[in-house]
Amino acid sequence: MIIDLRSDTVTRPTAGMKEAMFSAPVGDDVFGEDPTVNALQEKAAKLFGMEAAIFCPSGTMTNQIAIRLHTRIQTEVICHKHSHEYLYEGGGIMSNSLASVKLLDGDLGKITAAQIKAAINPDDVHAPETTLVSLENTMNKGGGSIYTLDEVKPIKELCKVNGLKLHLDGARLFNALAETGESPADWGAQFDTISICLSKGLGCPVGSLLLGSKSDIRRARKVRKVWGGGMRQAGFLAAAGIYALNNHVTRLKEDHARARALGAMLLKLSFVPEVYPVTTNIVIARLQGVSPEDFMKKLEDQKIKSVKFGTDLVRFVTHLDFDDEQLEEFGKRISKILFL
Ligand SMILES: Cc1ncc(COP(=O)(O)O)c(C=O)c1O
Repeated sequence: MIIDLRSDTVTRPTAGMKEAMFSAPVGDDVFGEDPTVNALQEKAAKLFGMEAAIFCPSGTMTNQIAIRLHTRIQTEVICHKHSHEYLYEGGGIMSNSLASVKLLDGDLGKITAAQIKAAINPDDVHAPETTLVSLENTMNKGGGSIYTLDEVKPIKELCKVNGLKLHLDGARLFNALAETGESPADWGAQFDTISICLSKGLGCPVGSLLLGSKSDIRRARKVRKVWGGGMRQAGFLAAAGIYALNNHVTRLKEDHARARALGAMLLKLSFVPEVYPVTTNIVIARLQGVSPEDFMKKLEDQKIKSVKFGTDLVRFVTHLDFDDEQLEEFGKRISKILFL
């Protein structure tokens, strides 16, 4: 048995999800006529108390569309230096939106209102105009760390006072909400746009949603089309999204419990002095005296897949296809790993 913990994107649709997909009524979504896509978009917008939503192929696309909506040429985005939008979206802030980016540092991938305030550019001919602040929750590079509403509210207030837009990369927002018990609608009230991924913890094969105002989502449809993301009978995929919102949200806490157990198992290894605090489904282990490549090679020998996450870091992500049996097996297999 292969234990694949590279990401929560590796899951396969469940039998129930497949049944929902194959029986979905569909139409041409570029004409706005796919009833299942429309139902998913309405359901998500309503859940977050936002006016509208658009279904896209990926979280990269929903983030990049949001950046395009909230910036212009020669303007600037403020985000954490480890944010997915900056590190892992191929320089899209620059190439898709011709915008500059100001990177902030902060514990476990999070930034504060005070830091953002100091980073807003003055109205000066030398500086790009700051137009957008972007947060990530949960924060992938922070080990799945969580922003709470109390941390976000002062940032929202600051953006309001300074006329800045606020976007959330909520690829794993449902993981955060599962732990805090906060409501999607309270989160919807803080942001101009939110990106939600269906293909991560929620277990869909494809798809992300961008939530926002009616006028922003109307503009988003144009950007999606010109970037080649207009899909036709996408209802087959949207049906998976509806199924996931109905069936896979409440179970996320199971992934978090397994992640905590997995973190504790890793800490027993002599060459793992530290595991980032495990709050959701991401576990980042720091290695000492052993390289990620060497550790991952031994993991591969034990049929365990992981990813390198820095010069001395390895990441493991729990998900829908990782159950208690695999967790137990993981513990047995890693206890056999020795560096002599
Ligand atoms: C935090 C975060 N944001 C955005 C994305 C992008 O999602 P996608 O792979 O669907 O483009 C990812 C992907 O892993 C992610 O982890």
